[in-house]
Amino acid sequence: MCPVRLLYVDGPMARATGRHGDESRALPRDLLLDVELRRGRLRKNLRETLRSAIQEGRLLAGTMLPSSRTLAADLGVSRGVVTDVYDQLAAEGYLVMTPRHAPTVGGVANAVRAEPEPTPPAWRFDFVATTPDVGLFPRRAWVRAVERSLRSAPADALGYGDSRGRIELRLAVADYLARVRGVRTGPERIVITQGFRQALDLLCRTLAARGSTTLAFETPSLPDAWATARASGLELVACPVDQDGLRVDRLHRMPAAAVVVTPAHQFPTGAVMAPTRRTALVSWAAGAGRLIVEDDYDAEFRFDRPAVGALQGLDPGRVVHVGTASKTLAPGVRLGWMSLPADLVGEVRASKAAADSGSPAIDQLALADLISTGEYDRQVGRARHLYRRRRDQLVDALSARLPQLPVDGAAAGLHVLLRLPDGVDDDEVAREAGRHGIGVRALSPMLLASGPERGLVLGYGRLRPDSIYKAVAALARIVKPAAG
Ligand SMILES: Cc1ncc(COP(=O)(O)O)c(C=O)c1O
Repeated sequence: MCPVRLLYVDGPMARATGRHGDESRALPRDLLLDVELRRGRLRKNLRETLRSAIQEGRLLAGTMLPSSRTLAADLGVSRGVVTDVYDQLAAEGYLVMTPRHAPTVGGVANAVRAEPEPTPPAWRFDFVATTPDVGLFPRRAWVRAVERSLRSAPADALGYGDSRGRIELRLAVADYLARVRGVRTGPERIVITQGFRQALDLLCRTLAARGSTTLAFETPSLPDAWATARASGLELVACPVDQDGLRVDRLHRMPAAAVVVTPAHQFPTGAVMAPTRRTALVSWAAGAGRLIVEDDYDAEFRFDRPAVGALQGLDPGRVVHVGTASKTLAPGVRLGWMSLPADLVGEVRASKAAADSGSPAIDQLALADLISTGEYDRQVGRARHLYRRRRDQLVDALSARLPQLPVDGAAAGLHVLLRLPDGVDDDEVAREAGRHGIGVRALSPMLLASGPERGLVLGYGRLRPDSIYKAVAALARIVKPAAG
């Protein structure tokens, strides 16, 4: 087998080159073809290799191949072999031959077509709580931040760096968290991740490597996070929540060495953890060398008063604080951060290095710029203002249309919980809503331990302000008959 690297030129550029005879304007690209150069089978092998490269879409329509003279020289075969193969492929329709020009690939339908990408449903009314209004993403500010960062970043910023993340971002995040969330940390204890999900993954790997077998989660909570934890082989135990947040008294009876909590705004009930529970939780962890993972996913959005400070501030040695840009900017940014107790930094850093050698440097630099120039705070302020109005409208509309059903959740974040009577098939209600173009998630699949509670988690981040009343009216038509 002789791997041959063909230099070919793509379609539009090839034409430009042909017209102007200016080789420097061409865009040469590499294509690795394995041609078996066995005497007596040269023609057949070269023909089949080129044909399958075209069929598989590795050589696209319009691509210019090397001239027969060049290819023959590259392969070390006589020119006649290549001309025969080109003629044959032209006869089959794979190549187009033009006098005094190298052949180009014809418009053959590629046999191997990419499967069409599944597109997410475009809801008429979108109550899905996990995604914010990505239309608010500050595109211009981001472009400026990328540009400024690329101008000023040292060359080594583009190499393999510290797997904890770029120092510029760790410094900016440490300042931001101290100022806005009361987190006690420093750049040396921060690890930049791909959102909360990767932070949880790295922590679970670390816990498993330390010999932990069990992790406690709130019930209800985010099922996607359970999957992440289970992937490390951890067994999950469910700790209930009430209107004051996690039932810490119940946690004491569980075998877990760590717990994942959402104290600032419980997902999905919207409860804010009561001060007594916060201190009780920190004592639970301190007593037996346990760990608390604080998922601070939407704390920037508190509407009625300043957000409660992060739990981590009470015990930085036992609480891992995890933040994310998924709600403040967009989930597609895939940037998050965790502030670790000092004794965990080494292991988590090693896990991050093993996972992906560190998050993308340019994005980290852009986010650092956004935070340190104050643009991030301005963006959060703008979004907070809009989300507050959407929440007010949603709550008004719910009390007008479904006055008999309680709406739970602090004036915070991007969702409320509409309670349905116990035992109602809320999953079926959500499916029926989906059939009417309304995207919404039910509460019961978020129960880690089965129970009678039922409801709909209503996100308002993606509802257009002028459609909220209509959206609730449409939802009410489905909910009312089911709720009795
Ligand atoms: C409870 C909770 N935590 C965290 C996140 C954010 O996850 P990530 O940062 O991985 O996008 C979400 C997103 O919906 C969430 O609902």
